[in-house]
Amino acid sequence: MKILVSTAGRHGATASLAQEMARVFQHEGADVDVRTPDSVDDVSRYDALIIGSAVYSGRWLPVANKLVNRVSGMEHPPVWLFSCGPLHSSNRPVNDTSDAAHAVSVLTAISHRTFTGKLDAERLSVGERQIFASSGAVAGDFRDWVLVCNWAREILACLTAKKPGA
Ligand SMILES: Cc1cc2nc3c(=O)[nH]c(=O)nc-3n(C[C@H](O)[C@H](O)[C@H](O)COP(=O)(O)O)c2cc1C
Repeated sequence: MKILVSTAGRHGATASLAQEMARVFQHEGADVDVRTPDSVDDVSRYDALIIGSAVYSGRWLPVANKLVNRVSGMEHPPVWLFSCGPLHSSNRPVNDTSDAAHAVSVLTAISHRTFTGKLDAERLSVGERQIFASSGAVAGDFRDWVLVCNWAREILACLTAKKPGA
């Protein structure tokens, strides 16, 4: 089983979710590549493709959108998508962006999940700090590793069901 995980982020939270998914996939015996979106070319040799993006001001990052559009023009394996964004773990509507909806549609993705992220105010650029200050959001680490690992296991279960004996 060969899986490609490709994510876009600015400050490491999305990449850390990707690494955790890759760890689960590897632990369960899959062969995993983790690549930046701009380095992804041929995806036909993979059994699954996971694409993720951090959410900034309600949008996926452009490099993730570009990957989605590129892959939609290629022969591609089943796709799973995730967004990394909200900074609250509860009492908040799921932050579904139009970019994620577009990606689900053009890639006929199996599923899209939104995971809570992380924000360290010290690491923000001046512009980001201004947007953050006016948003009312709270800085902190809201990553939920159990949800992330469970989703990775769901993906593996789905792939194994599609490919008996893998
Ligand atoms: C300027 C700014 C704007 C943000 N806008 C959103 C947003 O619209 N929706 C959301 O869910 N999270 C938003 N976030 C939170 C980030 O998506 C979150 O911190 C994420 O984990 C960042 O991932 P990264 O470290 O991979 O870049 C914003 C954060 C910053 C600093």
